[in-house]
Amino acid sequence: MSRLTIFADEMHPERFEQLERFEDIVAGARAAGVRFERWAAERELPPSATQDEVLAGYADAVAQLKRECGFVTADVISVHPQTPNHPELRKKFLSEHTHAEDEARFFVEGAGLFFIHRAPRVYALVCERGDLINVPAGTPHWFDMGPTPRLKCIRLFCDPSGWVARFTGDAIADRFPRFGE
Ligand SMILES: [Fe+2]
Repeated sequence: MSRLTIFADEMHPERFEQLERFEDIVAGARAAGVRFERWAAERELPPSATQDEVLAGYADAVAQLKRECGFVTADVISVHPQTPNHPELRKKFLSEHTHAEDEARFFVEGAGLFFIHRAPRVYALVCERGDLINVPAGTPHWFDMGPTPRLKCIRLFCDPSGWVARFTGDAIADRFPRFGE
């Protein structure tokens, strides 16, 4: 289930509040500058759906987001326990970083945990099937797909070269719980 945990103080992860109602998550995420929405599939997709089938299945929603936010390309990232390099892939997103553009993800299947650092607070948002998250450009954040990942996400980009990160060098992510803990 989607859930937002708000840590009041980045130095004390033991102090937090949890929100589980959709409206509360939207409002809480907005306080962090993050857009959170639920999208319905335009048509039913089989688990074996290819990237093109997934993008076609959400064509209208993706086109709308491109118009609103200036994204030019979209792709689909799919990770599951049989993905050979998933531990490396997990590690890649697990340190705090920023992007020069918004990070928009729509969860077609599965789930993952985004951490958004808006000092002194840290917002941890579990996203699952049907959830759209948009983390604004320049916002420090990290992402955990967990040790046994299951996710299929549409990713939207302004820069056609795809995912480019600037790591902050802050070890903050190590102080916070991992996905599933
Ligand atoms: Fe990112």
